[in-house]
Amino acid sequence: MIGELWNRTVVPWAVELCCAGSSVERQRAKIMPRVEGRVLEIGIGSGLNLAHYDAARVSSVVGLDPSPELLAKARPRAEAAAVPVTLLQSSAERLALDAASFDAVVATYTFCSIQELDAALAEVRRVLRPGGTLWLSEHGLAPDPGPRGWQRRLDPVWSRVGGGCHLDRDVRGYLERAGFATDALESMYLPGPRWLSWHTWGPAPLAGG
Ligand SMILES: C[S@@+](CC[C@H](N)C(=O)[O-])C[C@H]1O[C@@H](n2cnc3c(N)ncnc32)[C@H](O)[C@@H]1O
Repeated sequence: MIGELWNRTVVPWAVELCCAGSSVERQRAKIMPRVEGRVLEIGIGSGLNLAHYDAARVSSVVGLDPSPELLAKARPRAEAAAVPVTLLQSSAERLALDAASFDAVVATYTFCSIQELDAALAEVRRVLRPGGTLWLSEHGLAPDPGPRGWQRRLDPVWSRVGGGCHLDRDVRGYLERAGFATDALESMYLPGPRWLSWHTWGPAPLAGG
């Protein structure tokens, strides 16, 4: 009961606050201008990527999120966007969308929060056309033992107060298991605590596509 109230009130506010930070904005600016075609954005949250879509490259965006509170925050941004945007209340694990119907999928700071990430990535693979690309910027499992230890220790508490956000997801591992190529991705620590700031971003095309 208290957990549900927390997730419906505090978490949407905290997501908006944390995801609008300047280092996160710089990450968005690294990938969003490169996205093109018919786009699906999974875990669109409050729609902070919407201002970054280039109308000369992107024909339409379908943005989905399971949280009605975050979708309500995304709505005015969708209306102000330079591209046509459709918002859907849905989880990424089961998509009521046709196979091979998108040129690109976008995920920013979403892998950490999706409960069944393997299932979601299988769905992303299904809805991408052959040769399509998943564009991402995600925090995750650090390569060094010090921050990794903190990630393992803090994760049980962090995920409970942070609306299911996990600190220790191996982003490249999940992608490779799901059949995405990871060679063009970049990774580094951004400013901030190293248990939170190991980032991976860029294009992950369908392997063999
Ligand atoms: C940290 S927020 C990031 C929001 C947004 N992508 C951004 O960059 O500002 C994580 C988002 O993942 C969403 N999420 C959680 N579980 C999900 C799922 N199973 N499928 C899709 N999105 C999910 C949350 O509702 C939240 O909007």
